[in-house]
Amino acid sequence: MDQITEILQQALSELRSTDTLDALKELRVRVLGKKGSISTLMKGMGKLAPEERPVFGQKVNEARTAFETEFEAKKNELENAIKEAKLASEKIDVTLPTGAVEKGVLHPLTQVYREVRDVCMKLGFNVVEGPEMELDKFNFELLNIPKEHPARDMQDTFYINPEIVLRTHTSPVQARTMLTNKPPIRVICPGKVYRQDDVDATHSPVFRQIEGLVIDKGVTFADLRAMIDTILKALYGEDTQTRFRPGFFPFTEPSAEVDATCSLCKGKGCPACKGAGMIEVLGCGMVNPRVLEMCGLDPEVYSGYAFGLGLDRLSNIKYGVTDIRLNYENDVRFLRQFR
Ligand code: DAH
Repeated sequence: MDQITEILQQALSELRSTDTLDALKELRVRVLGKKGSISTLMKGMGKLAPEERPVFGQKVNEARTAFETEFEAKKNELENAIKEAKLASEKIDVTLPTGAVEKGVLHPLTQVYREVRDVCMKLGFNVVEGPEMELDKFNFELLNIPKEHPARDMQDTFYINPEIVLRTHTSPVQARTMLTNKPPIRVICPGKVYRQDDVDATHSPVFRQIEGLVIDKGVTFADLRAMIDTILKALYGEDTQTRFRPGFFPFTEPSAEVDATCSLCKGKGCPACKGAGMIEVLGCGMVNPRVLEMCGLDPEVYSGYAFGLGLDRLSNIKYGVTDIRLNYENDVRFLRQFR
């Protein structure tokens, strides 16, 4: 009996001084394993008198349980210590300052688009979009551009098939809008347009436009002028002046081309405006009564105006960019300048 107590005490004192999991496992084998100190005690039972055996056996089992209980406690303690150490070493201080993160900037075309959009929306315009693959009917026919019109030349237009083109302008959205909405109509239609042009400083086969359309009773050219003035002043500054020159577009009558004070030289004359002090920025006009009719509106009741802005042009003039390709090459050295 004393031996049991002694072996148990011995085992427990070793257990208490163990400080690694490996050593702990090793100790367990030495104590409880087949040849372990406690297990070996059982083998001596045969030498005892039969009546002593139950008491002895019970005592050994108690010793075993006592060891196991302390063993489990120690094991938990060591495992917890390991976990704590790991947590402590992996701790991240989220309040530490980071290195400077460079913020992206909106593309200049996006910035200019949003400026135009915001002025228009404040004045009650909605934004509508149309497909880039467009029926000839909308891109040309309903806009009073008949089959033999030079704008339809194979040189200019990407034909998918004889009836479907990549839209050459955003004007087809006008026709779509008139056919599906009742006046009053006040919309702008932003989007990509396509033309078979070779790439150079002033041409790109893909570029961006914003179309504007207003249809109501009693809309006049004065309304158009005021609207264009408002947009250009918002974009280029309050001191911007506009000049309307007679122009021609099949879908408007009368039509005008609009020049604005060159925002770079403020009208003094510079290379960007070729010394003129003014620079052409957009086309516009009163919606041709034939177009109204073809789109199901009575020209005796309704009138309206339309305008078409080239986003690249507006942006390049605003920022003094002389090569349209810069807008499409995504060179961060260029883009970063539009903060
Ligand atoms: N669609 C014309 C183009 O791409 C631009 C334009 C001119 C649109 C006059 C209009 C307009 O709505 O009235 O060249």
